[in-house]
Amino acid sequence: MCGIVGYVGSKLADSVLLFGLYRLEYRGYDSAGVAVIDEGEIEVRKDQGKIRNLEKLLKEHPVEGNLGIGHTRWATHGEPNSVNAHPQFDTTKSIAVVHNGIIENFDTIRRDLQKKNVIFVSETDTEVIPQLLNFFGKEIKNDYELLKKTIESLHGRFAFLVIMENKPDKIFFSRNGSPLVYGRSEGEGFLVSDSSAFIASVKEQYFIKDGEWGWISKAGIEIFDQEGNKIVPILTSVDHDLTQYEKNGFDHFMLKEIFEQPSVVQKIIDNRITAEGKIHFPELALSNDFQAKLFRVVFTSAGTSLHAAMIGKLYIERFAKIMTEVEFSSEFRYRNPILEGDTLVVAISQSGETADTLASIHSAKAKFLKVLSFVNHLNSSIGRESTGIVNLFAGTEIGVASTKAYVAELVNLLLYSLYLGKLKWIVSDEEIGLILEEIKKLPSQIESILSKAEDIRKIAVEMREKRDFIFLGRSFEHPTALEGALKLKEISYAHASGYAGGEFKHGPIALVSKEVPVICICPKNEVYIKMVSNLEEVRARNGIIFSIYTEGDTHVPSLSNYSFSIPECSEYIVPILSVIPLQLLAYYVAIAKGCEPDQPRNLAKAVTVE
Ligand code: F6R
Repeated sequence: MCGIVGYVGSKLADSVLLFGLYRLEYRGYDSAGVAVIDEGEIEVRKDQGKIRNLEKLLKEHPVEGNLGIGHTRWATHGEPNSVNAHPQFDTTKSIAVVHNGIIENFDTIRRDLQKKNVIFVSETDTEVIPQLLNFFGKEIKNDYELLKKTIESLHGRFAFLVIMENKPDKIFFSRNGSPLVYGRSEGEGFLVSDSSAFIASVKEQYFIKDGEWGWISKAGIEIFDQEGNKIVPILTSVDHDLTQYEKNGFDHFMLKEIFEQPSVVQKIIDNRITAEGKIHFPELALSNDFQAKLFRVVFTSAGTSLHAAMIGKLYIERFAKIMTEVEFSSEFRYRNPILEGDTLVVAISQSGETADTLASIHSAKAKFLKVLSFVNHLNSSIGRESTGIVNLFAGTEIGVASTKAYVAELVNLLLYSLYLGKLKWIVSDEEIGLILEEIKKLPSQIESILSKAEDIRKIAVEMREKRDFIFLGRSFEHPTALEGALKLKEISYAHASGYAGGEFKHGPIALVSKEVPVICICPKNEVYIKMVSNLEEVRARNGIIFSIYTEGDTHVPSLSNYSFSIPECSEYIVPILSVIPLQLLAYYVAIAKGCEPDQPRNLAKAVTVE
C-alpha cells in the first residue's frame, strides 16, 4: 500500500526521495510524487503510473532543495490520476502532505471547510489535512498547537508527513495505525514507511508508535505522545541487508524468493532446533505454564497467511490436541467472538502490518487474551502489539505474491505445534525426533523440486490460454489447493478456485471441461484413494488434469495429462513441498501471459487499510 518518504539534510532531496520510493515500490502503488522546498517555495512533481514516470518528470523539470516528502499512492479515495496523487495541498499551495491510511471523517471535515469557502481540487480524503492546517494556521501560529489541533480533528488510521513554506526547516509527522519509522544520520533526518527506504548512511532508527507526532529537522526529532507530552525516543541500529533488495540474477523477485526457500528453511532449522535436538523459541515470551494449560487456539490472519493458519490448525490439533479455529481477521474483528481464558489468539502475518489482523489483535487484547504473532518483522505493528512473538526468519519478501514467507510460516507452525505437544505431554520425544529428521531433509528436498522448474515452465506454457482453473486437495492439501489457486489468480489474472476434494461433487464438478484444467494434489497419504476418485471423476468427463504426486507412484501420473512428483515424506511435510510446484506454476503462467509477477495490478504487499 502507500509508501512514505521524508528527508531533511544536505543532500538533494529529490534523489534521496526517489531512492526511497523505489525501495517501497514492492508495497504496490498506482501513482507517485514528491514535494521539495526549493528556495523557500514548495515544488511538486507527481504523476500516475510507475515511479519512472516521476523520475522522467524530475529530469525534465528538476527541483533543488534539501528538504522534501515523497509518496507512492495505492488509490482508495479517487481514481489513480495525477490530481489525486500525493503530495496534496492546501488552496494556497504552501502546505504539502503525503499520507498513508484513511481519514474516516474526511467527508464531514470537507463539507465544513467548503461552507467556509475552502475549495477542494482532488477526490482524496488526504486533502483535508493541508486544508485544515491552513485553516487553523490563520489563528494558531505555534507549531505544537497547530499540529495537535489538526491531529485531534482527524479520525481513522493514518501516517502522514507535512511540509510548510513558512517552516522550511521541518517535516511534521503523525502516526495513528499506519507504519512510520524515523531514521537519523549525521545532520540528516528521514521518515519512511519501512526501513528498507533508508539510504545506507542511516545507522539509527526509531519506530514511531500509534498516537505519536512531532517534527524532524537536521538537528533531530521532537516527539510527543497522544496527550501532547514530550517523549525521548530510544533509537536502535538499522540492519542494511542489501541482498534482500537485489534480484541476484533472477528475472523477478518472486522467482528469486521461490528459489530462496531451501535457505529460508535451513535458517529456521538453525535457529529453532538445538544441537541436542530440542525445539526452542527463545523470543516467544509466553510462559510454559500458560501454554501447557491452553484449551483453545484461535488463528486470525488473511490471504496466504490464512492458508498457513489452516495447516497450523491441523498441526496443533494433531500434535497438541488443542481445539483450534481459523478466522479471517476481517471477520473476526467485527464479530465480537466468544473468547475466554485459556485461549491463545495466534496472528500470522508476513508484513506484520495487515490492518484487519492488527484490529483482531486489538479485539482479543480488549478481552484480556494473550496474543502470539508469527511475523517476519519483529518491529512491525503486529509484532510489537502482541504478547508473544515467533520470528518467521523468511527474510524480507519483495514480490507481492507471498512464497517464501508462506513456507516459513508452515515450518514454524509445525515446530510450534510439536513444542506445544511436548509441553502438554501429548507427543513423545521419539515422534518429535522423527519429524525433526524429516524437517532437516526439507532444504535438499526443496532443492530437488526447484531443479525441475523447467518441467513446470513447459506445462505452464501449455496452460497459458486457459482462463479458469480448479485446484483440489484433501486434508493437509486442502489449504494447499486454496493457496495454489490464490497464487495463480493474483499474478496471472486467470480465475482459479480451490476446493476440498470431497466438495467437488457438490458443485464445482459442473465446470469440468477441456477449458478448465483441474490441478489435483494427491500425495500418498491417508486420503490418497479419495483423491484418486477425484481424478477418475475428472477423467470420466474428459477434463484436463495436472497432478502433484509422490515419487514412485505410477497410478496418479497414469490418470493425469500432466504430472509432477515431490519426494516421499510424511503427510505433515507434504504441504511444505507440494506448494512449491504450484508457486512455480503461477509464476510461469504469469510470464507466459506477459504479466508482471512482482507487482500485480491492484495488489499491495502490505494491506494497511481495510
Ligand atoms: C498473497 C498475499 C496476500 C497476503 C495477505 C496477508 O500472495 O501475499 O494474500 O498473504 O494480504 O498479508 P500478511 O501476511 O502480511 O498479513
